[in-house]
Amino acid sequence: MNESNKTRVLFVCLGNICRSPLAEVVVKSVAKQRALDHYHFESAGTGDWHIGKSADHRSASKAIDHGLDLSQHRAQQITDQNIHNWNWFVAMDQANYQDLLSMGADASKVLLMRQFENPTNIPDVPDPYYGGAAGFEDAYQMLVANAEGLLEFLELQH
Ligand code: 4NP
Repeated sequence: MNESNKTRVLFVCLGNICRSPLAEVVVKSVAKQRALDHYHFESAGTGDWHIGKSADHRSASKAIDHGLDLSQHRAQQITDQNIHNWNWFVAMDQANYQDLLSMGADASKVLLMRQFENPTNIPDVPDPYYGGAAGFEDAYQMLVANAEGLLEFLELQH
């Protein structure tokens, strides 16, 4: 499908080096398995510290463990300047969610990554940056557990 006709979905975390890049490749791979080619997925951080940097090595190796590839990732920031380039936002945690609303995102277009496993009491994808390796596997499992639900939700929107 022509790029300009695709539904643009942005995964959002704080630094765009740990959680949201992994979310992007996990959901991309499920979309590919389902032959859903009418989405354009990217990821971004609300913070500016890591702009232009590669994914955190722990996320990159987690991706490799699961047959995914983060080697091309370069961190970018979501701001009130570029927020209108997106149809949907998928926030990793409540802080990301609130930051997106503060930047002017339409609340009806901001999703939470884990709302598909528990819509009434939505847990965060906790920030694994300051923790150990287990936090990255946990994050990966949370992303996998919600990827199908996210795509089913998006498919029902058009
Ligand atoms: P992420 O993790 O939001 O999942 O990419 C973080 C990465 C870096 C920082 C915080 C969270 N940091 O403070 O530099």
